[in-house]
Amino acid sequence: MKLTSPLVRRAALWSVAGFFVLAPGAIFVGAAHGANYNPTETSRRNSGTPNSSIVVKNKAGTVIEYGNKYITYTAPPAKLDNLGEALYMENCASCHGNQADGVPANGTTGAYPDLVGLGPATIDFWVDSGRMPATDPRAIEAPRRLPRLTPNQALAIAAWVNSLAPSLPLIPSPNLANANVSDGAALFALNCASCHTIEGDGDALASSTFSPSLRHIPAFQVVEAIRTGPANMPRFTGNLSDQQVDDVTQYVTTEIEHPNNPGGFGLGGLGPVAEGFVGLLLGVGVLVLVCYWIGERQ
Ligand code: HEC
Ligand code: HEC
Repeated sequence: MKLTSPLVRRAALWSVAGFFVLAPGAIFVGAAHGANYNPTETSRRNSGTPNSSIVVKNKAGTVIEYGNKYITYTAPPAKLDNLGEALYMENCASCHGNQADGVPANGTTGAYPDLVGLGPATIDFWVDSGRMPATDPRAIEAPRRLPRLTPNQALAIAAWVNSLAPSLPLIPSPNLANANVSDGAALFALNCASCHTIEGDGDALASSTFSPSLRHIPAFQVVEAIRTGPANMPRFTGNLSDQQVDDVTQYVTTEIEHPNNPGGFGLGGLGPVAEGFVGLLLGVGVLVLVCYWIGERQ
C-alpha cells in the first residue's frame, strides 16, 4: 500500500465534507431534545412550593418556614436586617440603587436588575455563589467565583432586601437522606442534561452564554438554582416536586462528583450526538482510506 500524501489529503477532505453534511441534522435533533421547559412562563416571581406539609407563620402572618420531609425553606432571621442593610449599602447599592429597585436601561450604559420581591433564595444564591458583587457589570454572564461575603453576610443581605417586600422562595435546606439517586439521575437526564451535559461538565449556550460545571456546588445552592432559575436557566417550580428536586440534588452532589467513563474516552460527557460525530469522522475517514487501498491494488 502506498499512502501517498494526495491520498491522505483526499481522505481528510471526504471526512470534512461528511461532517458538514451530517452536522445540521445532528444539531436539529439536539435542539429538539433540549426543549423541555415552558417558554410562555415569563414572570420571575416564585409563588413558593405548592406541596408543603409544613407552613409556619410569624405574628404578623408572614410565612417564615414551609416545606416537607424532602426540603424545608426558612426565612433569613429578621434580626439580621440591620447588618444586612449596612452590608447592602456598602457592597450593592452603587449598582442596584439604595432602594434595591435597580436602574432601568433607558439608553444609559448601566442597567441593573430590580432586586425587590425576588425572594431570599435568589439573593442568597447570587451572593453565596460569588457572582455578586459583580466584578465586571458589563459581562454577558456573571461567573461563579470565590464568595467575597460570608454565608451569614449573604443571609443578612437577603434578610434586608426581603424586608422591603416579603416574598418567596425562602432559603432551602434539602434532606438528602430521603432522596433517591436513581430517580434523580433520570430526572437530571430529562431536565438538566440538555444544558449542563449528563456528567454535569457544563457547555456553551447561544450568544456567548454558557451553562456552568456542576461540580462542587453545595446541595442548598443546587436547590436554590433549580427553584430560582439564575440568568438563562429556566426556573423549575410546579413542574418538579420537592421530592424530585431532592432526588436531582442528590444526583448532582454525589454521582456528578465521581464521573466514570466505562466506554473509553469521556469526550466531555457531551452525549451520544458528540460521540456519534467522533465515530463518524474517524470511521468514515478510515473507510475511505481502505477503499483507496483496495482500489489501488490491481
Ligand atoms: C458593579 C455592579 C454590581 C454590584 C456592585 C452588584 N451587582 Fe448584582 N448585578 C449586577 C448586574 C450587571 C447584574 C445582571 C447580571 C447577569 O444577569 O448576569 C446583577 C444581577 C444580580 C442579581 C440577579 C437578579 C435577577 O433578576 O436574577 C442579584 C440577586 C444581585 N445582582 C444581587 C446583588 C447583591 C446582593 C449585591 C451586593 C452584595 C450586588 N448584586 C452587587 C451588577 C452589580
Ligand atoms: C436552558 C439551559 C439550562 C437548563 C435546562 C438547566 N440549567 Fe442550570 N444553569 C444554566 C445556566 C445558563 C446557569 C448559569 C446562570 C448564571 O450564571 O447566573 C445555570 C446554573 C446552574 C447552577 C449553579 C452553578 C454555579 O456555577 O453556581 C446549578 C446548581 C444548576 N444550574 C443546576 C441545574 C439543574 C439541577 C437543572 C435541572 C433541574 C438545570 N440546572 C437546568 C442553564 C440551564
